[in-house]
Amino acid sequence: MRASGTLVDSVRRVALITGCGKALGIGSACARALSAAGFSLVLTDIVPLGLANDLDEDQDSPPGWRGIESLGREIVQQGGQSICLTGDVSIEADATRLVRQTLDHFGRLDVLVNNAGAPHGDDRVDIESLSLEAWERVMSINVRGAFLMSREAVRPMRRQRWGRIINMASAVVRHPMRERAAYIASKSALIGLTEAMALDVADSGITVNAVCPGSVRTARALSSTRRAGFSDIESGLAERARGIPVGRHAEAAEIAATVSFLCSAPAGYLTGQSLFVDGGGLPRPATQPHP
Ligand SMILES: NC(=O)c1ccc[n+]([C@@H]2O[C@H](COP(=O)([O-])OP(=O)(O)OC[C@H]3O[C@@H](n4cnc5c(N)ncnc54)[C@H](O)[C@@H]3O)[C@@H](O)[C@H]2O)c1
Repeated sequence: MRASGTLVDSVRRVALITGCGKALGIGSACARALSAAGFSLVLTDIVPLGLANDLDEDQDSPPGWRGIESLGREIVQQGGQSICLTGDVSIEADATRLVRQTLDHFGRLDVLVNNAGAPHGDDRVDIESLSLEAWERVMSINVRGAFLMSREAVRPMRRQRWGRIINMASAVVRHPMRERAAYIASKSALIGLTEAMALDVADSGITVNAVCPGSVRTARALSSTRRAGFSDIESGLAERARGIPVGRHAEAAEIAATVSFLCSAPAGYLTGQSLFVDGGGLPRPATQPHP
């Protein structure tokens, strides 16, 4: 049975999630959780399948997976509602269009999950080797993208006097690691953006929070495990999970559960916060690779 707590005068609330093309991703897990909670979904990614990390492999997705289109079909089959849109969050015109198409289709926008994240690649290097191009790529997706999407989303949310914005940051901001300068700077900026935006919209019924996952078992983590030199993924993940206090990676659904809570009516007094969903902390030593 689907939840009904998300009905507003018998209209379903609407959630837009960026970066949900990956089968194992945090974005698709958020879509499944919010659909189960009664939200209509706007499933977005830059391309339907999502951008690959440098060491993603075909086996990281179920056979026949077609990205947001498969996710949309799955949601509708389970009784939910969704539309699929493509767009680059770092491009102003795309951010404007994604929100406009949402309003054209559903007539409202209640939740924005800024989940899109720059894929792994040439940013994973020592500071001396970090190119300006790699730095700009990470910052433009992780920070500018969240800013552009949020600015567009706030307009209809203010009119409705209700909204939830969730920024997917990272627990790595609390436990910095080597060869992550652009990524950590971008996620730290995202937390700053969260705190500042939360104040701007606090009197409009809109909350803004950051979720900071630890190591989550997504394509990103599998790619990172391959990069760390493990050919057997399961033993690589187990090895890399030693040092996480709970002793394992998170499942994406465990991050999505926190997002779902933040989108619920009783969470309306919680704003400007960063929630660390990291199993008690990231692995030590600080040199250990992390997604
Ligand atoms: N997996 C982890 O362990 C972990 C840990 C901490 C934080 N995070 C963060 O959570 C988020 C999701 O992580 P994931 O592991 O599911 O990643 P993922 O690589 O599986 O998914 C990221 C998605 O973002 C999309 N994207 C990239 N550039 C985009 C753009 N310009 N416009 C629109 N979409 C774009 C990609 O296509 C991809 O589908 C990311 O922001 C990531 O930094 C992940």
